[in-house]
Amino acid sequence: MSNDARSQSVFDIVGADFFVRLVDAFYDGVQNDQVLIPLYPEGEDTVGARRRLALFLIQYWGGPDTYMEERGHPRLRMRHAPYVIGELERDHWLLHMATAIESVIGDVPESDREYVTTELATYMVNAAEAMRNH
Ligand code: HEM
Repeated sequence: MSNDARSQSVFDIVGADFFVRLVDAFYDGVQNDQVLIPLYPEGEDTVGARRRLALFLIQYWGGPDTYMEERGHPRLRMRHAPYVIGELERDHWLLHMATAIESVIGDVPESDREYVTTELATYMVNAAEAMRNH
């Protein structure tokens, strides 16, 4: 089925909990990544970072706007300005995100998996490139 023919959005298909599981899997990888973890102000204590990314993704994909209530307008490029993000950092971030998508996609109904994977992967690749500042 083409994307245009879908009557359900990604968020309607996967729900908020999917993004919580996705972000948990993602940070499990980041926590052990010696390229990325030095960038994080709270270091290996990723509880707050997990919450912020999960709430952002839930809001971005059409769920509740709790992120905005807690953090204000995302302005993600500005928020990432303090961290040097070059090709290496982008690639490490994306690798953990790709691994995380793979690890949770099984929770999505089989008939929607390809669609959801393509939507998420396309978004993540573009967003990560947009965050590069070096
Ligand atoms: C490309 C490589 C990236 C690196 C190295 C990176 C690194 C970081 C770091 C170090 C933080 C601060 C951690 C914290 O919140 O305590 C952060 C925050 C955040 N990042 Fe990234 N990030 C990257 C890409 C992205 C992308 C693509 C997204 C969105 C899809 C994203 C979304 C966020 C969000 C929502 C926050 C919390 C902002 C806030 O409310 O303060 N990041 N990131």
